[in-house]
Amino acid sequence: MNTPLRLDPAAADGRAPDLLVTDIAQLVTVHDPDLDAHGPRRRAAMSELGLVAGAALAVRDGRVLATGAEDEVRQALCGHAPPGPATRVVSARGRAVIPGFVDPHTHAVFGRWRQDEYERRVRGETYQEIAAAGGGINASVRDLRSRDEDELCALATARLREMMAWGTTTVEIKSGYGLSSDDEAKMLRAARRAANEAGLDAVLTCLAAHEVPPEYRERRAQYVKLVVDEILPRVAREGLAERCDVFCEPSVFDLADSETILRRAAELGLQLTVHADELEPFGGAALAAKLGAASADHLIRIDETGRAALAAADTVAVLLPGTVFTLGLRHYAPARAMIDEGCAVALASDFNPGSCPILAMPLIQAIACTQMRLTPAEALVACTLNAAWALGRQAVAGSLAPGKRADFVILDGDDYRLIPYRAAHNPVAGVFVGGQEFMLNPGARPSI
Ligand code: NIG
Ligand code: FE
Repeated sequence: MNTPLRLDPAAADGRAPDLLVTDIAQLVTVHDPDLDAHGPRRRAAMSELGLVAGAALAVRDGRVLATGAEDEVRQALCGHAPPGPATRVVSARGRAVIPGFVDPHTHAVFGRWRQDEYERRVRGETYQEIAAAGGGINASVRDLRSRDEDELCALATARLREMMAWGTTTVEIKSGYGLSSDDEAKMLRAARRAANEAGLDAVLTCLAAHEVPPEYRERRAQYVKLVVDEILPRVAREGLAERCDVFCEPSVFDLADSETILRRAAELGLQLTVHADELEPFGGAALAAKLGAASADHLIRIDETGRAALAAADTVAVLLPGTVFTLGLRHYAPARAMIDEGCAVALASDFNPGSCPILAMPLIQAIACTQMRLTPAEALVACTLNAAWALGRQAVAGSLAPGKRADFVILDGDDYRLIPYRAAHNPVAGVFVGGQEFMLNPGARPSI
């Protein structure tokens, strides 16, 4: 059944759209005014895509002006006259159009890759053993500290452009490889500049509590004090990030340290998120729910208490199956049970040089479908609208609702289910951010 015409009230002024995308075989709006009034999608609502066959999408001033059956959109906006010269018309040529992906958890600013550690893991060492031997996060910390902001910005810009070529239009970027006030600030400034250069919307998160840096190894409490007394206040004062994250695990920051850091961040007006219950069922998810965090992420080892806490809270469960896949683990987060019990589930890449060098959201959806038994529709909602809720960006991103930023992707096929099904294929034929077309690498992708 076709979703009815959705029209921004601003259309009443009669001004022509700037852009009209026509001949859309399948428009996936992920929008329903009733379902979306109160919070992220849960249970059966995670399968509601707001589909329209034979559709058009109208854009004005960078925002969605109308969606619906093409004849109804044309009728509502232009009467029966063809669009005038002020309107750019793009034919989707019988393909599908979806909201741009929102990737709500990445560590996209870093220096070198860590393929050496990948080989060591394949040969049998664990992530934790490699970290204890001086690799892991601290290897990236040493590397990042040796590079200047311009170099980090250039590296991150290229990686963000690659994400956009795979359909990501909003991305979260964490610090956490600096672990000193100046290096964290350098990293966040590089992230902001890179997002501006690449041309996508970025939500920045201070993850100074990612690891205890080597110079504080025997003085963990002093490092927590540095984060609370210096780094977070500076981040808030200088507007370097809008969120705060903590790697909450017994071997990194325990529940008490995590709560101290997160409460201080909340006082400073930062939104909260937590790396929780990744290695052990440790109570990180319940802490996130208790503190009103926007999201709790990883959750591979979440237990029933954690699931119940998230189901009862507005905190979105952000699952990162690319990490489990890359680390070669057998156990994925219990996504099926979480959805069935009422948790609002989102998906993210966790793109980083250690545990997950995957940045392609289509592949994340493929892994979520086959390994965690999400349906293709649930996986798409988890990578769009619920991911936007996880970042507090639900008013502007995550669905093609009238008034939201016109961030969308034209696929190279006519059905969204091709995304996870053709796992290693890039299904993106065109990417638009705020109604502006992003130039895909010429030659690499078919142009529209
Ligand atoms: O989310 N869990 C901690 N942090 C990252 C890994 C970062 C790294 O290995 O460099 C993660 O998986
Ligand atoms: Fe992470």
